[in-house]
Amino acid sequence: MLKIAVIGGDGTGPEVIAESIKVLKAVSKLENFTLQLDEFDINGARYVKTGTIITDEEIATLRKYRSILFGAVGRPDIAPGILERGFLLRLRFEFDQYINLRPVKLFPGVETPLKNKKPEDLDFVVVRENTEDMYAGIGGFLHKGTPSEVATQTAIFTRKGCERCIRWAFEYTRKRNNPKGKKLTLVAKTNVLTYGHDLWWRTFQDVAKEYPDVKTDYNHVDACCIYMVDSPERYDVIVTTNMFGDIITDLGAILQGGLGVAAGGNINPDEGGTSMYEPIGGSAPDFTGKNQINPIAAILSGALLLEQEGYTAAAQRIQNSVLKVVQKMKSQAAAKMGFSTTEVGGLVCENL
Ligand code: IPM
Ligand code: MN
Repeated sequence: MLKIAVIGGDGTGPEVIAESIKVLKAVSKLENFTLQLDEFDINGARYVKTGTIITDEEIATLRKYRSILFGAVGRPDIAPGILERGFLLRLRFEFDQYINLRPVKLFPGVETPLKNKKPEDLDFVVVRENTEDMYAGIGGFLHKGTPSEVATQTAIFTRKGCERCIRWAFEYTRKRNNPKGKKLTLVAKTNVLTYGHDLWWRTFQDVAKEYPDVKTDYNHVDACCIYMVDSPERYDVIVTTNMFGDIITDLGAILQGGLGVAAGGNINPDEGGTSMYEPIGGSAPDFTGKNQINPIAAILSGALLLEQEGYTAAAQRIQNSVLKVVQKMKSQAAAKMGFSTTEVGGLVCENL
């Protein structure tokens, strides 16, 4: 039995998660496994009413799950940073979700801003470290609010932190088994970040010795931005630091057709770890309740969940169905799909 904690969240989050669940239920019937879905009322609306984002009890309850399916949090009436730190980053840290897995895959029929690039040219996966770097929340102010104010925001890199991420990326590259060749590219900035990224570089070289079947490469992050646009076919799997991973995966999202199709997973792959899968896009308040938002990213996040839980055939069915459905859609942008949110979910179910 597959037990999933479900957090729809705010805005269009619940709408896209409803479609993802519809698809998970349909695929569970076809693949003969049982699903238990437990919903949690955690969102910005509750925060506005009660001042609570998430309770310690809820964290303790969620910790008992291996997988959480999450929509989005965020409301125009809540200052930026509150829900991000209080919910998303809190869960990443509390559950030590040290992998942020973000596939960048162009499906046939989906429009990309890249001229002359085809689906076979754009099919790679970014493994973003998810617990360190400038996200660690280390820093402070001196003389705040005065002309001599000083602010620090320290990037933290540890051997343990980068090694576990790099090793997982090598394992993932091996399992993905790209017919064009297994290749893992480290993306960092060793020419400037001569301490933290030197640690990443040395660790990458050390771990690589255990994976002679995986070709390795290195790109500075600025060059990576050029290559992602100019020659994305060079990438199979990218492993990178938290901050750079945040930035390049937004570039990846737009290349593969936008936030409507970009899926992700915050993964703790350790025994008993709790992972959380989410569409990369936000709560899209302008589209809330209109049945116009694209649920494909949430549906693909469900497939990522299944893949990590070991339901490989079910995950593949969803991928194959999405591949057919996106070709029928006019666009991947909200309100321009040629279908409603619920119709897209229905089509994915029909094509499983
Ligand atoms: C993401 C988001 C988050 C991040 C924000 C909302 C804290 O941009 O998941 O990429 O920076 O990691
Ligand atoms: Mn981001």
